[in-house]
Amino acid sequence: MKKHNAGKIIYTREQIHARLETLVDEIAAGEPGEGFVMIGILRGSFMFMADLLRAFNKHNLHPQIDFISLASYGSSTVSNGTVRLTHDTDIDVRGKNVLLVDDILDTGHTLAFAKALFRERGAKDVKACVLLDKKSRRTEKVAAEFIGFPVDDLFVVGYGLDFDNRYRELPHIAQVEFED
Ligand code: IMP
Ligand code: MG
Repeated sequence: MKKHNAGKIIYTREQIHARLETLVDEIAAGEPGEGFVMIGILRGSFMFMADLLRAFNKHNLHPQIDFISLASYGSSTVSNGTVRLTHDTDIDVRGKNVLLVDDILDTGHTLAFAKALFRERGAKDVKACVLLDKKSRRTEKVAAEFIGFPVDDLFVVGYGLDFDNRYRELPHIAQVEFED
């Protein structure tokens, strides 16, 4: 593996937390509250999920939460489109409003799979909230209803996002720099 390090900051901790507040306002505006379930896609979403959940408190929303794990085959930085469920939720989503939470929307394979899964299971509504949107890389016809920030076609880490399962602890989003 190439030598790498977390370099230039793309979004600071302060920018992330300010955006979180407005993001929950947007989500809460269309959320009746009854049957509201947040489902985080592991592992990248765990930090974003925790902060989003806390931010919902001001809206007096009390979502049920759970997580799923999805694995995509391919190299460490590029998925090849085959997604499989490696850890499932226990929550019965029938008739519920599901909000999927993920760290980044890239090609769209992961989110397309997750949205289809919960629709098939009879959720009343399935929406998605992603912290980052790498729109230029999209190959699937899938959208996230709520987006924190756009991001260019760079490999980014921090605030839950990883490279080789590292750098998740960074409080900001940084670009990975590879040395050749
Ligand atoms: P997609 O299925 O191609 O949309 O990929 C989504 C998943 O790929 C995300 O949940 C991330 O786990 C991972 N991913 C895509 N781009 C990045 C990145 O820049 N940094 C870290 N993980 C990424
Ligand atoms: Mg992920």
